[in-house]
This record gives sequence, C-alpha cells and structure tokens, in this order.
Amino acid sequence: MQDFDAVIVGAGAAGLFCAAQAGQRGLRVLLVDHADKVAEKIRISGGGRCNFTNRDLDPAAPHKHFTGQNPQFCRSALARYTPADFVALVQKHGIAFHEKHKGQLFADRSAEDIIAMLLAECAAGGVTRWQPCGLKKVVFSASSAGRTGGGSYQIDTDRGAVRARSLVVATGGLSIPKIGASDLGYRLAQQFGIPLVERRPGLVPLTFDGAAWAPYAQLAGLALPVAIGTGDHEAPHAAPLRGSPPPEGAAFALGRPGGKRKSRMAFDEDLLFTHRGLSGPAVLQISSYWREGAPLAIDLAPGVDLPAALAQAKARSRRLVANELAALVPARLADAWVQQSAEWQRPINEATDKALARLAQQLARWQLTPTGTEGYRKAEVTLGGVDTRALSQQSMEARAQPGLYFIGEVVDVTGWLGGYNFQWAWASAHACAQAL
Ligand code: FDA
Repeated sequence: MQDFDAVIVGAGAAGLFCAAQAGQRGLRVLLVDHADKVAEKIRISGGGRCNFTNRDLDPAAPHKHFTGQNPQFCRSALARYTPADFVALVQKHGIAFHEKHKGQLFADRSAEDIIAMLLAECAAGGVTRWQPCGLKKVVFSASSAGRTGGGSYQIDTDRGAVRARSLVVATGGLSIPKIGASDLGYRLAQQFGIPLVERRPGLVPLTFDGAAWAPYAQLAGLALPVAIGTGDHEAPHAAPLRGSPPPEGAAFALGRPGGKRKSRMAFDEDLLFTHRGLSGPAVLQISSYWREGAPLAIDLAPGVDLPAALAQAKARSRRLVANELAALVPARLADAWVQQSAEWQRPINEATDKALARLAQQLARWQLTPTGTEGYRKAEVTLGGVDTRALSQQSMEARAQPGLYFIGEVVDVTGWLGGYNFQWAWASAHACAQAL
C-alpha cells in the first residue's frame, strides 16, 4: 500500500490549491477526483473567464460578503490569505486580468489560465493526481504513534488502497451534478459524526407559479438595475425609498445584536426577467438569503422619485401613461406594467392622482413571493454544509477527528457572487495546507 502525508479528495479550486501548497511544503500529497476533467467548475466560472477573487473583501468583517451559521468562522483564514496574495500568484504566472464590477477580478483570456496555473503549482509541489478515480471507502485507525491522538486513514480508491495521516475533503457542493458534484463530502462528515447544516441551492434563479407569472413572462430577456430585498411590506432598503441610492448589500438586523437576529438583506444589482421567473445578479445574490414562502420586495426604479416624476408628467403631457413611464423605466417594463390596470391605459393627464400614486408605489415596492428556485441544476453554490462549530478556524481540521480536514464549498461558508467563493476556496485551502 502506498503511503502519503495527505490525501486530498476533490481536484477543484480548494483541492488543487491545498495540494500545491502542501506539496511545496515538502509533503507527499495525493489528489483524487472522480471527474474526467480537472476543475470543471473553474472552467465554466465567470462566463469562462473565472472571477477568481474580489478586491473588495474585508477579512475583519466577513459577514459583509459571506453567509452561513457563523460567518466569523472564515475570518482567520481570509486574513491569512488575502485577495492580494492570490493576485500576486496570478501575476507571478503572467496571467493578464481585469476588474469588472465592484472589485471583481477576471482573467482576460480564459479560466483555463487559472487552471493551468494551479496545475503548475501542483507540479512544483510534486503532487500525485489520480483522475478520474473514485473513492470506495475510508477507514480511520487510531494509533498511539505519531501525533498525539492521531492515527491514519486507509483510503480505498478505484486505483487501489493508500494510507495517509491526513485526509482533506475538498469535494465542493451539490450544484451542477453533471460536471461531478456529489454528496461525498457530507457522507464522509456523517461517517465521522461531524454535524451538517441543512443544504440548499444558493446564487440561484428564483421561479414563480406559472399562472402568477404569466403577466411577466413577456418580459423574458429584459434586464434592468433594481434594489432588491428580503422581507415583506417594506421597501428593499430601510432607508427612505427614493432619493439617494441605498447602501450596498445592507443587512438590517431586526433583532437584538448578538441575539437571535432576523436580518433583512438588500442588494443594488441588475435583475433579469426569464420565462419562469427572475435571475440576474440581483436575484442570485438575494437567493442566498431567501427562505421558501418568504416574499421579496423589489424597487424597479431605484433612485427615481416616481410620484414626483409622474405628477410632473401629468401636469405637462397628454401622452399615454405607458409613454411617460418609459422615460423612467425600460419601455418594455412600462408597456407590460400598465396592462395590469385599465386606469393606467389612458393619457396621463386623464389618470387620477390615486391611480398614478398606486403605479408609483407598485413599481417601487413590487412585492412577490417566489415558489422555488431553479435548484442545483442552475445554482452556483450550495448553502449549508459541514457545520463550522465542528472545525478549527485556524486549520479547518475537525475538532473531534484528528487528521480530517474540510475546505472550500463543502463547509458551511458561502460567499456572495463576485469572486468571494473562490477566495474562500483559496483561503481555506491555504489555512489547511499550513497545518497538514
Ligand atoms: P469544486 O466544486 O471546485 O471542486 C470539487 C471537486 O470535487 C470537483 O472536481 C469534483 O469532481 C470533486 N468531487 C466531488 N465528488 C467527488 C467524489 N465523490 N469523488 C471524487 N471527487 C469528487 N465562484 C467565484 O468565486 N467566482 C466565479 O466566477 C464563479 N462562477 C461560477 C459559475 C458557475 C456556473 C458555478 C456552478 C459556480 C461558480 N462559482 C464561482 C462558485 C465556485 O465555482 C465554487 O464555489 C468553487 O468551485 C468551490 O470550490 P471547491 O474546490 O470547494 O469545489
């Protein structure tokens, strides 16, 4: 049987990076992955250009860009391996990149460059990679030799059995099963008695009941900037509805600080209408905070004083409400929206003040309750996962199981859209590699 210092399961973002770092520290590392192709998720990420990190990340305040039962868990790892560290690595490999939107960094050419970089780093660390290679069984033998309380893992794979003192689980989440996602990481956690937080799709389009959605289906393909928030009977932002733009990604704690909090999230991003519901960055972001049965509130004209603008239009124009509204929101939206009421399908000077006020109110506080999500087929991430209370935030090692580590998306840490999930993969992998 071959011996390694560490076996890492999952050659995705976290697994490749951890393997490279551990190998370069002189450890004998085996990286095992059941998929035919290495790092498929990196390949398809960021529209093929991989949004590999985000400059706008404050490790001292991880709750700003990460969710999970305890967002503070990722603080130490994020502080010890920062976006600047990853950027330095990308630069060392001569990969050109650019900033797109709100600190998001993308490869200029292709995500393939990031994969090639990670493979080169693994090669520099002498990492052995078996791929495709499935995992059949893991058995832990406690021993009095070696590290205090340590032992070894016997790992049966499709290519034979190996032994290692450390086993790193980097199997990612459940999204996009057709490119290799599986529940192996969660099953391994369960095998060793490590608790899991309920899993659900995150960064995912939201869907609506067919009949309820029928009036909006005609808007499929329309994209527009919005302010979107969780919580009912409120504008997306606690701040006054109109006027100055609301704070980015503001979380409003409705409970006592430190106590059980019911927080409301809000984002300023683009919304995309689809045939089945809503997508686009605004909806993907809010989906990670949305719970089944809960309503969303959307301001379809953020920063526009709709009541004042409609009142002014009424005073000076005889054009149809839809035509005047088209100066304030996209014309397709204006046309579709006025179809909802006969009182809006007339010249604006003939519309009542009450009708125009209702129009303004509905566009600025569109209340709607999704019926579901597009599921793991379309989700970019999996929320929940290995309970962070069971892991060391310094090393990602399971507190009650020596030598067993969990890194990347399999852990109950989920970042916002915009490179945060890869940064968590790099940072958690780095923390683990230093401890192996
Ligand atoms: P990852 O999923 O990368 O790797 C897990 C590996 O484990 C896979 O190679 C898989 O084959 C392997 N594995 C699973 N089960 C196994 C088993 N039973 N046996 C052996 N191997 C097994 N994030 C971001 O920051 N910027 C972005 O631009 C994007 N874009 C994006 C687009 C799309 C379409 C998706 C689906 C996701 C993103 N993401 C993203 C999210 C990001 O891809 C994700 O968070 C990271 O890849 C997670 O890294 P991990 O290494 O934890 O898992």
